[in-house]
Amino acid sequence: MPKSLDLKQKAKMDKTKLINQAFTLPCGVSIPNRILKSALSENMGTSKGNFSPILEKLYTTWGQSHAGILFSGNVMIDKKARGEKYNAIVEDESDLEGLKKWAEVSQQHGTQLWMQINHPGRQAPKSFNKDIVAPSAVKLKVPMGFKTPRALTEEEILMLIERYANTARIAKKAGWAGVQIHGAHGYLVSQFLSPSTNQRKDRWGGSLENRARFVLMIYRAMRNTLGADFPISIKINSADFQRGGFSEEESMEVIDLLSAEGIDLIEVSGGTYEKAAMMGITKQSTLAREAYFSEFILKVRKRTSVPLMLTGGFRSIGAMHQALEQNELDFIGLGRAFCRNPLVAHQLLTGAIDASPVPQIKTGIGFFDKMGVLDTMWHSLQLKRMGNGLSPNLKLSPYKALFHGLKSFL
Ligand SMILES: Cc1cc2nc3c(=O)[nH]c(=O)nc-3n(C[C@H](O)[C@H](O)[C@H](O)COP(=O)(O)O)c2cc1C
Repeated sequence: MPKSLDLKQKAKMDKTKLINQAFTLPCGVSIPNRILKSALSENMGTSKGNFSPILEKLYTTWGQSHAGILFSGNVMIDKKARGEKYNAIVEDESDLEGLKKWAEVSQQHGTQLWMQINHPGRQAPKSFNKDIVAPSAVKLKVPMGFKTPRALTEEEILMLIERYANTARIAKKAGWAGVQIHGAHGYLVSQFLSPSTNQRKDRWGGSLENRARFVLMIYRAMRNTLGADFPISIKINSADFQRGGFSEEESMEVIDLLSAEGIDLIEVSGGTYEKAAMMGITKQSTLAREAYFSEFILKVRKRTSVPLMLTGGFRSIGAMHQALEQNELDFIGLGRAFCRNPLVAHQLLTGAIDASPVPQIKTGIGFFDKMGVLDTMWHSLQLKRMGNGLSPNLKLSPYKALFHGLKSFL
């Protein structure tokens, strides 16, 4: 082999070394490598929110990805509150066999399946949700599809906390390897944290201590139910990027609180339906760094030792390797890359590819292109293709995605 080729090969191997290292979480569970599939809502359950053949096909494919963890798309805790029409819903054990199958097909090659647990709060489309609830009656500022929610009562809040823990209990019983609280992107937990959506005057609103009570009580209820050795994570916003909203400083304080409680993994993201920062719409990265919330994670790293995962914008092995080498974080989260290439983790880990580009999906209609929602719709259609046994189609028309996406709101 010529010497220059040899050196190139060696440089490549050096860059894959860190992403291949195992990592032990505070609860004692070991994760085989550092490339994780972030939650991607499949919207492919049955009309009752049960496991389905298309979900089975998709996760059989992702099960071969060698990702350290596959976080499921958001699973709802209450059939009366759905973010999308065909979300998986786990509120009792009626589909325990389906959930077991989901875990089995995903984990047969050594990757772990963790359930992302969610309640949409006010981000519940009015076409298929009747009684829409939230911390306060504050309507989402998007052009269509949502209505003013009803403020939750104290009793309902306590029942919802139980529901989060119960869904986590069922996930564990069905053989899932971990759980994640969806505390980001403007859903219910994130609505409680943000002063713009939580205007309550009782013990759940006002000070940050009060606004964080909901998520802390969910974490404690889960920990009590699951035990000390079962992994619990949260996906949290670095900020919601809106005036008067949840700020970076507040997010760091909540991270401190959860770290002190012993949470196993914190995934950092950002944004809401009103401002889709998680999709790169409000880009929070320096030009030199491709990851969106990299400056924020550096600040978090300095104040806590909790394991950290950063999702949003990572594309190249170089950037992933650098972030790990400089000890800025512990795990790389990838979202859209897994929609475009289900085996992306394996290919990055083996050095078969050194980047996984995600070009922005555009219609040319500024209104849609700026919102980030089109990007989600397009990638969501790729998941459907995989669920139907097809490969992703990278030439898929953005207009087709827009048509399907808008239809799913009806
Ligand atoms: C189709 C699609 C569905 C998504 N569903 C979820 C979800 O259910 N829960 C979640 O936390 N994030 C969800 N996200 C956001 C991703 O997890 C991730 O944060 C985002 O895509 C940015 O990462 P990336 O730049 O690697 O794609 C979704 C993104 C896409 C494209």
